[in-house]
Amino acid sequence: MKNLPFLSFEETNKTIKAEILESFESFFDSGWYVLGEKVKNFEQEYARFNQVDHVIGVSNGLDALHIALKTLGIGKGDEVIIPSNTYIATALAVSYVGATPVFVEPDIDTYNLDSTKIENSITSKTKAIMPVHLYGQACEMESIMKIADRNGLFVIEDNAQSQGASYNGKLTGSWGDINGTSFYPGKNLGALGDAGAITTNNKELAQKAAVLRNYGSEKKYYNEVIGFNMRLDECQAGFLSIKLRYLNEWTKQRQEIAGWYNEAMKDFSDLILPKVAQNATHSYHLYVIRTNRRDELQKHLAENGVGSLIHYPIPPHLQKAYQNLGLKKGDFPIAEEMADSCLSLPIWPGMTFEMIEIITDIIKSFKV
Ligand SMILES: Cc1ncc(COP(=O)(O)O)c(C=O)c1O
Repeated sequence: MKNLPFLSFEETNKTIKAEILESFESFFDSGWYVLGEKVKNFEQEYARFNQVDHVIGVSNGLDALHIALKTLGIGKGDEVIIPSNTYIATALAVSYVGATPVFVEPDIDTYNLDSTKIENSITSKTKAIMPVHLYGQACEMESIMKIADRNGLFVIEDNAQSQGASYNGKLTGSWGDINGTSFYPGKNLGALGDAGAITTNNKELAQKAAVLRNYGSEKKYYNEVIGFNMRLDECQAGFLSIKLRYLNEWTKQRQEIAGWYNEAMKDFSDLILPKVAQNATHSYHLYVIRTNRRDELQKHLAENGVGSLIHYPIPPHLQKAYQNLGLKKGDFPIAEEMADSCLSLPIWPGMTFEMIEIITDIIKSFKV
């Protein structure tokens, strides 16, 4: 049997290859390699897609979050609430501006920030909430926005994993004051290298962010603030414009694949399948199951040629990098339980029903 990798670009690359090569040629011939027409066009296209007024293309998702926090003036002595089960980048962005990440546990069914637990963690130092639409599912944004409003906090969405998902019909990346997303190759909208974007409806914040990403400068060689070189690459912007045209179709495919998995495994009683909250949609960046025999199942899949990954094996509060926070095992039991039990199965546009049958048969054979 042919191996089934955790992620394959084979099908999507086939679809776009001719257009990508054409875009590269026009980029190459243009002689303009940094912040040109391709970045400008992609920013407009992505703004239309995400239904926001402003998009600022940046170097990657982590830089997008870093700049977002910086535009809001968040820094030393401030606290930012983030989920305890997120990817390290969310916490790193908070640390970069000198603020402290404050972890709040996720809901055990949706794996997204549990809004009923947020207010207990708000202190006089709290400046913002950073919900992460984990694995592709939109957070319960209405309650999060209400809490932020009530407590005078900013909201910064970490939309790295969920382009195209929505809550109550409103897209992720369009709720917060200023938000970040990632176009890392494996993301739902992936570049052919590192890339990211900031999304906002606030003109003033958009202008600040655009200045920060480009040496703190609006006019060449005139520097208003201590900025960064965190620009979206011109060549990648051209590629992203092409891939964006396929994103809705690819998201539909991901949702269909998730449906096949759900149906095939609905009676596997010792597996916990993904659950989608009422009013939320899921763009299935990842298809994550849970089982207390996770490591054995992962080994069994590997022995049968199926790739899988763990998102994530160590929650941020237990990472060596965050030792300084003085947190310990047992402080965030839901995040820890997830780290011990979750397993991401292959999901990528172009997967067929037969592939899902093969994978779920292998999982079934593990159970008996
Ligand atoms: C939740 C989350 N936030 C932020 C990032 C950072 O994105 P990037 O890798 O483009 O810096 C990622 C992706 O890796 C992510 O999954």
